[in-house]
Amino acid sequence: MTDLGPALRAAGATLRAAGIDSGRADAARLAAHLLDCPVGEVERLAILGRPAPAGFTELVTRRARREPLQHLTGRAPFRHLDLHVGPGVFVPRPETETLVDLALTYLRGLPSAPPPRIVDLCTGSGAIALTIADEHPVAVVGAVELSEAAHAYARRNVDAHADRLGERGTPAIDLRRGDASSSFLDWAGTIDLVATNPPYIPDDAIPRDREVRDHDPHLALFGGGADGLDVPRALLAHAAHLLRPGGALLMEHGETQGQQLAELLGAAGGWVDIADHRDATDRPRVICARRART
Ligand SMILES: C[S@@+](CC[C@H](N)C(=O)[O-])C[C@H]1O[C@@H](n2cnc3c(N)ncnc32)[C@H](O)[C@@H]1O
Repeated sequence: MTDLGPALRAAGATLRAAGIDSGRADAARLAAHLLDCPVGEVERLAILGRPAPAGFTELVTRRARREPLQHLTGRAPFRHLDLHVGPGVFVPRPETETLVDLALTYLRGLPSAPPPRIVDLCTGSGAIALTIADEHPVAVVGAVELSEAAHAYARRNVDAHADRLGERGTPAIDLRRGDASSSFLDWAGTIDLVATNPPYIPDDAIPRDREVRDHDPHLALFGGGADGLDVPRALLAHAAHLLRPGGALLMEHGETQGQQLAELLGAAGGWVDIADHRDATDRPRVICARRART
């Protein structure tokens, strides 16, 4: 049996040779998953000369074939939460944390009574809905997802975090399955914030990373149409029905789509304070707007 230290070094080299820059870190995450311990503990066990866990070589081989790390561990960290993910659901990305930051800043400026109402359209794993509920515990949060497989992951994540949220008195998330562009009509005109990370890749664009191209569901990636904005356009129109006067919209988008979305909102009318925000890598990422009060 190979010692953990040399096994990690060899795995890191194998993964880097397969084009994975984070090869050494991925190897440690896979070992941590198999050992059911924090990543930091893996390094300690390696120094102590412990053996590599059973199944490590197999997982490294699968990762070298570019299966997403998160599919192999079944988990994706997102802000303070650890979410269940796997085939059939979009793996939440760090750039989406920008949208959550903007949402929390907006919500903290609202009175806590009556509790603000938020909907996450196209919730996937439930990442946006759950982290808003986690970090703004007075919020009443709804979420909707079309894909049966993704909705099942969202259900699992909502259930897995129910105790954590319940301990702070956060109301249960109202998770629904269906087309986001006709969802939550029973909340129409009362919602304070519509937050959404919809599919937005143009139909003929091919994602560069194999993990994305081969493993993220197409429904999660391609927004429809030559510009990828069919779904986002439908959600902009629907958000206008859902939001109360003065309510806010936050929509994630591709790097080159901010200007077009701003123009769509301007042309639709009834929107004010239209602004685009950059993510932590300084790329245009989230369009924001508010419903006019009159
Ligand atoms: C880019 S993923 C984002 C998932 C999650 N919000 C996140 O940020 O990790 C887009 C999600 O929208 C879902 N979706 C696509 N079209 C939809 C529609 N018309 N109604 C509801 N969900 C939809 C996909 O299945 C996918 O889960």
